[in-house]
Amino acid sequence: MAPSAQQHIDDESYSSWRQRSELEKMADLPPELEEELTTLDKDFWVSGKKLKEIVQRFREELDEGLSKNGQNIPMNLAWTGLPSGKEKGTVLTLDLGGTNLRVCKVTLHGDRKGAKEKSELDQKQYKLPKDLKTGDADGLWTFIAEKLEAFVQDKKLGEEYSKEKPMPLGFTFSYPATQDRIDHAVLQTWTKGFDIKGVEGNDVAQQLREKLEEKNLPFELICVINDTVGAMIASAYNDPKTIIGAIFGTGCNAAYMASLSDIKKLPSNSERTANKQHVYTGDKMAINCEYGAFDNAHRILPRTKFDTQIDAASPRPGEQTFEKLSAGLYLGELFRLILVDLADRSLLFQSQDTSKLREPYAIDTSFLSHLEDDESPAFTATRDLFSSTLSLTPTDPEVEFSRRIAEMIAVRGARLCACGVAAICTKEGIREGHVAADGSVANKHPKFKRRWADAMGEILGWEDGDGAARIEITSAEDGSGVGCAIVAAMEIERRGGAKE
Ligand code: BGC
Repeated sequence: MAPSAQQHIDDESYSSWRQRSELEKMADLPPELEEELTTLDKDFWVSGKKLKEIVQRFREELDEGLSKNGQNIPMNLAWTGLPSGKEKGTVLTLDLGGTNLRVCKVTLHGDRKGAKEKSELDQKQYKLPKDLKTGDADGLWTFIAEKLEAFVQDKKLGEEYSKEKPMPLGFTFSYPATQDRIDHAVLQTWTKGFDIKGVEGNDVAQQLREKLEEKNLPFELICVINDTVGAMIASAYNDPKTIIGAIFGTGCNAAYMASLSDIKKLPSNSERTANKQHVYTGDKMAINCEYGAFDNAHRILPRTKFDTQIDAASPRPGEQTFEKLSAGLYLGELFRLILVDLADRSLLFQSQDTSKLREPYAIDTSFLSHLEDDESPAFTATRDLFSSTLSLTPTDPEVEFSRRIAEMIAVRGARLCACGVAAICTKEGIREGHVAADGSVANKHPKFKRRWADAMGEILGWEDGDGAARIEITSAEDGSGVGCAIVAAMEIERRGGAKE
């Protein structure tokens, strides 16, 4: 049952959008739109008190995931520690994200004297065809192998590497996967709208290896990592204050370093040796939380009817509840659903053709940031965007209404995003450090980082001027390129052989 607005509004701290909004008013709204806006605002506003309750429940779910397998937030073991900063070598990295496939040749210099940069990159990016995301496993691996093949030719890698002397390969696979070792990853469930048959429940490392073999490609797959782990490792390579790697992009998730003694579900070294399983020697291990799945039981998050609609129409209803309220893939869709609802009730875009607006996922997050950011005279940039994306010509009140909605959705997203990180920090007793963040929302939404920091302050009770003990959001280094190469270099070292 969707909670009513009343359930998540803390009356004491609730202030209407008029008081909170940072946008200058550009037009008066007719009373019926004004009323709609107030109702929506109440549904979308998450008070400071509510944020704290969410964080409390979040901590419980993180703990459950660390103690047992099969919990809602899986807290996946990533089988890697932090880098020393001295890792060296050349690695090919492959990054399967929500929209692109990226192939990089990464050269790590470690702390070699004379090297200008600690790493160098040579890369190519390929857009994932839309039908690949709903196709089958063979289509996916064939697409990847073809791009690898093209990269080998383009960069003349065949002159240096062969099947007998393969190039180390690292794979950033940004979906929930359980790992028994670093070169193995069983996909739990697709997220971010992917629905490729024949991969869930299978080891993606094995499937990729088989395709490399079939295509005779000169690579040895060394590691599979999550993008959050990559962001944390790449950032820690340069910045020892890194505590968390977080992605606020198409999806949302974070990784941090947990003490082995806190990972209750990790079998002991002797059990692992007896079962011929990989033995891990560090005292801390990276955990890929996969907290996009937080509150799949719908106990605490304030979901609106539009969130319920997004979930019901997604390939995996009931999954990734937290992600569906806060990540980039869904923010534009929320905005679109609100406009459609009002158009259906003849409150917006009367006598205009709304067919483009009715296409699912017709609007992405950048549309929202442009609206909030628009400083053009008479909001011509916003009007142009409506016209080019949706073939609509909004009236002044419609422009005004849309800007307010864009702001509400983004504010809620940023405030919720703070909850996941705050839960990790309070659970671990972390009071300061850097949250290395990557992803389109973190990098491209102009106000995200500040809103996120404000919400962190509300949750953790930072007083103004209490400068020292702060958890700061920083821009992550390249996780799926450099981060993945570092993890591969650490693993090669662990196996006792330097491959350059
Ligand atoms: C995936 C995570 C990933 C996150 C950010 C989520 O949908 O399940 O593995 O880290 O998106 O890309």
